[in-house]
Amino acid sequence: MNILIADDDASFNALKRMIFEHTNLDCSQYKDKYLKRRLQVRLRANELDNYADYIRYLKKNHGEYDTLMDMVTINVTQFFRDPSMFKVLGNEVIPEIIYNKTNSNRRVFRIWSAGSSSGEEAYSIAIIIKELLGERFDDFLVSVHGTDIDDGSLIKAKIGAYPIDQLENVSEALLDHYFDYNNDDDIYMIKDEIKDFVRFKKHNLIQDKKSVNFDMIFNRNVMIYFSREMQEKLLMDFYDSLNNGGYLVIGKTEMLSGEAKNVFVPVNNRERIYIKEKD
Ligand SMILES: C[S@@+](CC[C@H](N)C(=O)[O-])C[C@H]1O[C@@H](n2cnc3c(N)ncnc32)[C@H](O)[C@@H]1O
Repeated sequence: MNILIADDDASFNALKRMIFEHTNLDCSQYKDKYLKRRLQVRLRANELDNYADYIRYLKKNHGEYDTLMDMVTINVTQFFRDPSMFKVLGNEVIPEIIYNKTNSNRRVFRIWSAGSSSGEEAYSIAIIIKELLGERFDDFLVSVHGTDIDDGSLIKAKIGAYPIDQLENVSEALLDHYFDYNNDDDIYMIKDEIKDFVRFKKHNLIQDKKSVNFDMIFNRNVMIYFSREMQEKLLMDFYDSLNNGGYLVIGKTEMLSGEAKNVFVPVNNRERIYIKEKD
């Protein structure tokens, strides 16, 4: 194979436009460096030398768009990913929310897992809430909304069947309580008592309309791939989507930037948990 020369800016920009036209994925909102790394994997896999060749290849092979989409929207996730964050969530943050809601007689409890991939994050949060509320669960109207841009991940999330690798942070007790083991397929099915209040739907964080009135928003390991401007805009969108006193949780390697630094107050800096200051 020839040495890869994939640094043609004009072709790179043309490629981004083509991808947007065919998939509605606005690549200009992702970091160039990140996109180029992902594209190089596809160039290598197809034994192509540069972006211009890849453009020609895409024109003849429309199926390649799906493979490329999968590469750009990395879907790696796990139940209780970053266990120390879930510990703070279960020991401090969610008990505080429940306490405040109980005292003010507000019973609606809405959570958004934005960039939920195959559902592990949304179900992990749902399990914690169910555990903490126990018999009081029916006194509240709890809903967890998982959204993602990737259809394949959303299908998996709705099915809710996972191999043991995805569950290594789940304790034996929780595994027994909230999953049914399917011996034939060697997978664990999340039970209906959790599924019943977790909803998944397609949503593109870059351009789709945001819902509001959330008590908690999780956006972990998603915006790391976005440009700085997009990150700043997204964080302020989340601000608008949260109730006063609502919580934002971002990924362990992510940071607040722009105006968000002035309007979110750290609750736990290490775990990247922030609270929305009152308007
Ligand atoms: C690495 S996973 C993170 C999953 C989970 N939040 C976690 O931390 O384990 C990143 C997810 O972001 C989604 N994603 C990427 N770009 C997106 C966009 N523009 N809108 C919505 N979701 C997006 C991907 O499809 C992928 O499922």
